[in-house]
Amino acid sequence: MATQRPKSFKFSQILLKWNKESNTRKMPWKGEKDPYKIWVSEIILQQTRVEQGLKYYENFIRAFPDIHALARTPDQKIYKLWEGLGYYTRCRNLIETARHISGDLSGNFPRDYDSLKRLRGIGPYTAAAISSFAFNERRAVVDGNVFRVIARIFAVDKPTDSAEGKKFFNHFANKLLDKEKPGLYNQALMDFGAVICKPIPICEQCPFNKSCKAFLNDRIFSFPVKSKKPLVQRRWLNYILMEYRGRFAIRQRIEKDIWHNLFEFLLVEADSELKETELLRKVKQKGWLQTNGFSVMAFSPIFRQQLSHQLIKGRFMKIKLSQKSKLPADVVWVNEKKMKDYAFPKFINQYLQNK
Ligand code: ADE
Repeated sequence: MATQRPKSFKFSQILLKWNKESNTRKMPWKGEKDPYKIWVSEIILQQTRVEQGLKYYENFIRAFPDIHALARTPDQKIYKLWEGLGYYTRCRNLIETARHISGDLSGNFPRDYDSLKRLRGIGPYTAAAISSFAFNERRAVVDGNVFRVIARIFAVDKPTDSAEGKKFFNHFANKLLDKEKPGLYNQALMDFGAVICKPIPICEQCPFNKSCKAFLNDRIFSFPVKSKKPLVQRRWLNYILMEYRGRFAIRQRIEKDIWHNLFEFLLVEADSELKETELLRKVKQKGWLQTNGFSVMAFSPIFRQQLSHQLIKGRFMKIKLSQKSKLPADVVWVNEKKMKDYAFPKFINQYLQNK
């Protein structure tokens, strides 16, 4: 799929509208302008989930309301408040940077991205967050969540784990950035990646679902792209046994993938387990069902098959049609007796034999 330039629709306007009207995520550092407090929150959140980090942030700010308070406290007392958060290098850097700012810089927190990035423990992401939140500097935050959002909406197929890909995404993210409200925009993008465009996204609530290339092409799990394949790929293959007047819809797997040339039922692939209702919703989304023209007959237990580089898991859902519906063009209808004339993968045969 061709990569497109960040212009065809006003990304930041849509994001900020969503933020204003639908973003209900509340966190104590949101809207904060004090760089010290923003810094503390960002260091905690570097390797900690928001839910876990919240209490630590509140305890920290209560115990050390400003940079001088933190700088003059003995190390052990600070470590005690950090206890349980892990990654203690973060705490060591926090102490060192606090003493540097409080002493050498007389408490004046550096204000721009480049000076912030020179401080110990502050990388590009944290420097972009602090400089945009506290000082409205035009710097886009770029992390795994931002890769995912951009890769999906614009179908960027550059690998996020390559130097070239990282550079590309960084450039792209800075082009998308709202130049008037960079702080508000960055926080909105972080929240959007955390609550809507999650690894398993909520596309029906997404304000980009009329323009997101991955969604429109049914490829949300194909982005972001990584160049290094995981050692064992995990796949969830949900098969729909669509029956109409005693015949079943099957198709041949002609794509370059496992089980080449074998036959299968209609497939809904996912990268994690789908509940019955989620699966049915996806089948409807594909346009394979007519309202009132079907009944769900059965939902199998989970089947699995270990291949050399892939672990396949999945379920079979039997749906009886009372009206013919619009299915992919390569579907053929076969009756149950004729099914044995077609070669299916073992994964499907396991199910057919136990049906
Ligand atoms: N992760 C890192 N920084 C964050 C922030 N400011 N809000 C939510 N999640 C974050």
